This record gives sequence, structure tokens and C-alpha cells, in this order.
Amino acid sequence: MSFYMTYLARWPDYFHVAEAPGNQIMGYIMGKVEGHGESWHGHVTAVTVAPEYRRQQLAKKLMNLLEEISDKIDKAYFVDLFVRASNTPAIKMYGKF
Ligand SMILES: CC(C)(COP(=O)(O)OP(=O)(O)OC[C@H]1O[C@@H](n2cnc3c(N)ncnc32)[C@H](O)[C@@H]1OP(=O)(O)O)[C@@H](O)C(=O)NCCC(=O)NCCS
Repeated sequence: MSFYMTYLARWPDYFHVAEAPGNQIMGYIMGKVEGHGESWHGHVTAVTVAPEYRRQQLAKKLMNLLEEISDKIDKAYFVDLFVRASNTPAIKMYGKF
């Protein structure tokens, strides 16, 4: 918990929640901006969409938002992330983006 609270305090622009009517959480993204010189970049720490809201382009919207913030506000050169090698759906998604 303290790990993510530190993230939130330091990079609040990189935390977004998508809510359905009734305040049900549909999905969220969290990240940060880091690096030096030409490796100054945005980083996706986690992106998750609740099972009942998947395949409606919500992760795409959240990823686009993080990319936009890292580009326009922080002037980052690129965005990176880690994904587990066994996470085929996420790898397909990132490949499409
Ligand atoms: C991966 C995840 C975030 C995708 O969320 P989503 O909102 O369903 O994704 P989108 O609707 O924006 O999908 C965009 C594109 O990614 C690809 N994609 C997404 N889910 C996919 C799946 N299960 N299988 C294959 N391709 C997939 C598709 O090309 C899709 O476009 P399409 O629906 O027009 O074909 C969601 O499945 C999830 O939360 N998984 C568990 C957490 C996780 O693995 N997060 C990533 C960790 S690195």
C-alpha cells in the first residue's frame, strides 16, 4: 500500500479510474515518468479492466490517456512497460497498440 501511495503522491497525473454509473470501478491505470536525457519516458505500472467491461476499448482509452500525458505534459520520448510472458491477451493488446 505504501508503495502505491508514494506513486500516487509523486505522479498524480498518471493515475486514472474509469467509473460506471453508481461509482462501480470499470478499470484503472497507474504509471509514472522517469529516466534521463533521451531515455526520459512514461511508464505503465498497471492497467486493469474489470472482466465485465473488457473488449470495449477501455484499456485503449486509458493507455492513450497515459501516452498523451507523458507526451504533452512531461515531454517524454516514449512509453514503456513490463508484461508477463504468459499474459497472451495483454501482449496481443500491446502489439496492436
Ligand atoms: C489486458 C486488459 C487490460 C485489456 O482490457 P480491455 O479494455 O478489454 O482492452 P481493449 O478493449 O482496449 O482492447 C484493445 C485491443 O487489444 C486486444 N485485446 C484485448 N484483450 C484481448 C484478448 N483477451 N485477447 C486478444 N486480444 C485482446 C484486441 O486487439 C483489442 O481490440 P479489439 O477488441 O478491437 O479486437 C484486460 O484484459 C485486463 O485487465 N486483464 C487483466 C490485467 C492485465 O493483464 N493487465 C495488463 C498487465 S501488463
